[in-house]
Parts: sequence; structure tokens; C-alpha cells
Amino acid sequence: MASSGQKVVLITGCSSGIGLRIAVLLARDEKKGYHVIATMRDLRKKDKLVEAAGNCYGKTLTLLPLDVCSDESVKKCIDSVKDRHVDILINNAGIGLLGPLESISMEEMKRVFETNFFGVVRMIKEVMPDMKKRRSGHIVVMSSVMGLQGVVFNDVYTASKFAMEGFCESLAVQLLKFNVNLSMIEPGPVHTEFETKMMDDVSKMEYPGTDAETVRYFKDVYLPSSIDIFEAMGQTPQDIARCTKKIIESSQPRFRNLTNSLYTPIVAMKYADETGGLSVHAFYNLLFNFGPLMHMAMSILKCLTCSCLRRRTIFPD
Ligand SMILES: NC(=O)c1ccc[n+]([C@@H]2O[C@H](COP(=O)([O-])OP(=O)(O)OC[C@H]3O[C@@H](n4cnc5c(N)ncnc54)[C@H](OP(=O)(O)O)[C@@H]3O)[C@@H](O)[C@H]2O)c1
Repeated sequence: MASSGQKVVLITGCSSGIGLRIAVLLARDEKKGYHVIATMRDLRKKDKLVEAAGNCYGKTLTLLPLDVCSDESVKKCIDSVKDRHVDILINNAGIGLLGPLESISMEEMKRVFETNFFGVVRMIKEVMPDMKKRRSGHIVVMSSVMGLQGVVFNDVYTASKFAMEGFCESLAVQLLKFNVNLSMIEPGPVHTEFETKMMDDVSKMEYPGTDAETVRYFKDVYLPSSIDIFEAMGQTPQDIARCTKKIIESSQPRFRNLTNSLYTPIVAMKYADETGGLSVHAFYNLLFNFGPLMHMAMSILKCLTCSCLRRRTIFPD
């Protein structure tokens, strides 16, 4: 249970990756400023988190089951929090989807929206009324750079994050009237199970319904570039956890938070040309015309962004 002065932080999707790291970082806060309610849909996956939390487990960190896709689970979880009092809600749970559109079923696409979009909406609807009544609170949403810029073969995942960006941009205005902050975090690539799970799925797939030329572009052109980008630009879950802590501790939290400044020019390019042609053609050329050049650029970047330099690219240091 939270002691007086401690902020109650509820985080979704803490079984691995970014959610796990945020939970541990906040639970280990030197000033013991947080009581972390780390949630996951299957508590049988708790071991990694419990081990990483060490002696914080049961003190500044407690566990609750929560599936963001279930109305019942969300309500039960929030009802079991003392007085339903959540100071900071961190919507982190999410799933990826990668591949040629023709090979993806409508059910798979709906599952992505059910988790990445409606899952967040469901959480916000459950905690927002109490925050508005108390006239205090902070809602954080783990979006992605793909919530700001479309990426080939990530069509549906990107769409789910764009939907979230639009939803939050609209809601943030109303919430501000009630002194409730809303912040988006937009990481680029992060080395977590997210990437591994997607690459595993992709290697098992046969891409039914997709023509051979598209499959070839996906496997032989897109996938190697994507791996290069992850290796050269990828951040760690700990990097994202540190950014999240800074955002929630800021006296005037920013609405948008790109965690990797290497992506700033890409996002800026989109707004520099209102026809959209600049980004579409730049990505087309990078992928299909300048593939070898891009591979070389990524290799150079990988050397340049050795761990000491990479640390400097992370917002908001
Ligand atoms: N990794 C990246 O490159 C990257 C980049 C930008 C943004 N992001 C975003 O960061 C967030 C965290 O991803 P990650 O990289 O840490 O991936 P991860 O290691 O795969 O973690 C995702 C977490 O979400 C949970 N989850 C999935 N569906 C859920 C549901 N219905 N209810 C509750 N929890 C559910 C997973 O639980 P299970 O273990 O039960 O599956 C897992 O704990 C996601 O929103 C993702 O879109 C990731």
C-alpha cells in the first residue's frame, strides 16, 4: 500500500521490455517517491520483474493482473486499487504487426487495434473520471515514432499508433482544464522482446495471398534494412524508462517526447512539405534505390553511436 507522499503509478504490460524497466526504475527511486502497481495479463510471467525489482517487491512495487483488452479485467484491476486512486497511469502494453498487408487477416489487424488503441482508451476511461474529480493526475501513453511517421510494411501497427496520437492530442486539451496532464512518448527502435517476437513471427510466415515480388521486397530489401536500423539506432528499455521518469517528474510535462533525436529530422521532413511528397519519395528512394548506401550509412552510424555517444542522443538529457 502507498505511504503518504508517495505517488501511485499504475503501469500496463510489465512482464517484459519497457514496462518492466519503468516499473523497476520507479520502484527503486531513491526518495521512495512512488508506489508502483505493475500489471500484466498473465501473472505466471512475473518472475523476471520480481527478480529485477529485488527487495522493492512487496514494498514499493506490487503486482496486479490486467488484460487491457478486457473491460472486466480493467475494471476489476482499478477497483482493487485503494480508493481507485491512481496518480500516474502509464499505458505501455502493446503489440506489433509486420508484413505485407495482403498476408495479414482482418482478425490480426483488429487485435492490434484492440490492444494498442482500444486498450489505452479503456484504461483512460476507467481512471480519468477520478483524476478529473481530484483535479490532478498524469496519463502517459507509449506511442512510437511510428505514431508520427508511417513506415513501409508496418501499415497497421503504424495506423494504431497514429490513432492514439490523434485521440490523445484531442483529449489533452480537455484534461488540461481539470489539471490532468497527458504525455506521449515516441521511441524509435528499442531492443526488447517486441522486436524478437516480430522477427520470430515473420520468419515463420509464408505470406499467403501476397505476390512473389512483394514478398521479395519485404524479405530481401525491407527486413535487412530494418535489422540495420535496429542495430545502429536502437535504444535500451532502460533508456526509455529514464525518459519516462524525467517526463513524470517534470513540473510542466511535455505532450510529445521523441526519445531518440536521430529521428528528429525524419519527423521534421514530414512537416516541411505539406504535400507529403518529400517523405514518401525519400523513404522510397532510401529503400529501393539507395539500399546499399543506406546499409553503409547505418554501419557508419553504428560505429558513431557507440554507447558513450548514444547516451547523448537521448531526450531529455
Ligand atoms: N520495442 C520497440 O522497438 C518499440 C518502439 C516504439 C514503441 N514501442 C512500444 O512500447 C510498448 C512496450 O513494448 P516493448 O518493446 O516493451 O515490447 P514487449 O517486451 O513485447 O512488451 C509488451 C508488453 O505488453 C504486454 N501486452 C500485450 N498485450 C497485452 C494485453 N492485452 N494486456 C496487457 N498487456 C499486454 C505484453 O505482455 P505478454 O508478455 O503477456 O505478451 C508485454 O508485457 C508498446 O506499446 C510498443 O508499441 C516499442
